Amino acid sequence: MANILGIETSCDETAAAVVADGREVISNVIYTQIPTHTLYGGVVPEIASREHVLKINQVIKKALKDADMTWEDIDAIAVTYGPGLVGPLLIGVSTAKAIAYAKNIPLVGVNHIEGHICANYLSDGSLNAATQNIMKPPYMCLVASGGHSHIVRVDDYTEYTIIGRTHDDAAGEAFDKVARAIGLGYPGGPKVDKLAREGNPHAIQFPRASVGDSPYDFSFSGIKSAVLNYLNGAAMKGEEVNKADVAASFQQAVIDVLVDHTVQAALDYHMDAVALAGGVAANSLLRETMKERAEAKGLGFHCPKLIYCTDNGAMIAAAGYHEFMAGRLADLYLNAVPNLKIGQR
Ligand code: KG4
Ligand code: ZN
Repeated sequence: MANILGIETSCDETAAAVVADGREVISNVIYTQIPTHTLYGGVVPEIASREHVLKINQVIKKALKDADMTWEDIDAIAVTYGPGLVGPLLIGVSTAKAIAYAKNIPLVGVNHIEGHICANYLSDGSLNAATQNIMKPPYMCLVASGGHSHIVRVDDYTEYTIIGRTHDDAAGEAFDKVARAIGLGYPGGPKVDKLAREGNPHAIQFPRASVGDSPYDFSFSGIKSAVLNYLNGAAMKGEEVNKADVAASFQQAVIDVLVDHTVQAALDYHMDAVALAGGVAANSLLRETMKERAEAKGLGFHCPKLIYCTDNGAMIAAAGYHEFMAGRLADLYLNAVPNLKIGQR
């Protein structure tokens, strides 16, 4: 049995967790900086770094305490070293290296996106073992967050192949920009999700763009511009817009594309199951729609619990466990890599 302490500081959550054997969450502590950044309408990197410095030690100590463990119980420390904001990443990496050195504990560097994917393996005892749907590779995973939108074939616990990618905005970024345009504020995803429940998803026809000749790639800047044009057009004519209809129609357009491309990729690559990962995987309509359309094609479906969709330390510990078992340890030269790619070593 291996207990991994996962540390995550790539953006605006300071998080640490202890996970056993890459699956069982023993503790999970998340300090979110969202209220601080809300004042500025988005994440301010310098402020994020400062907040991480102030909170990281407390968050790690609490993760150990909640797990009822000491450093002797920890087999490895896993830390996000990219992709993300360089300042925030450096706080996590430096802290992890300092502890690894001082306590003589193995260190593992984790790719944040691979961490999101590994959230699919987490369980936390809130379901009984018989009803737990245990996820195992291979499967096709849609990773959609504030910075990334990829369709990834998960060949094994540490083997990934990118099948599709966005050519411009990430899905979460489109949610955040549209939310700002209709006056919902930051972070936009959950707010659009909530308002869309009161609107008609078929009220306005926004484009569902395909790009180039890859049937699995995405483009969200067209949908976003169409929403902005619609809002400007209405403002110029002095017409009142139904914000709930705009939110619902935009969300439906994005989700149709995300789901159709992922299900098609799973079928074309002969996968048995699809999974969701990343902050946008918390979207209620995306979860429902992916499940429906995947199951209609005879595919299995899995998504992490809501708390493990957005940034957290447990997913980093889960990914770190598999790197640790594969013997891929980091040394004290580990550095932040802000543009780290999936599968890059
Ligand atoms: O994975 P995450 O916490 O951070 C990144 O790695 O980017 O994802 C944050 C993104 C934001 O763009 C946020 O608006 C979006 O995920 N998000 C959602 C929902 N919850 C978070 N998007 C749509 N619906 C949601 N319920
Ligand atoms: Zn993330």
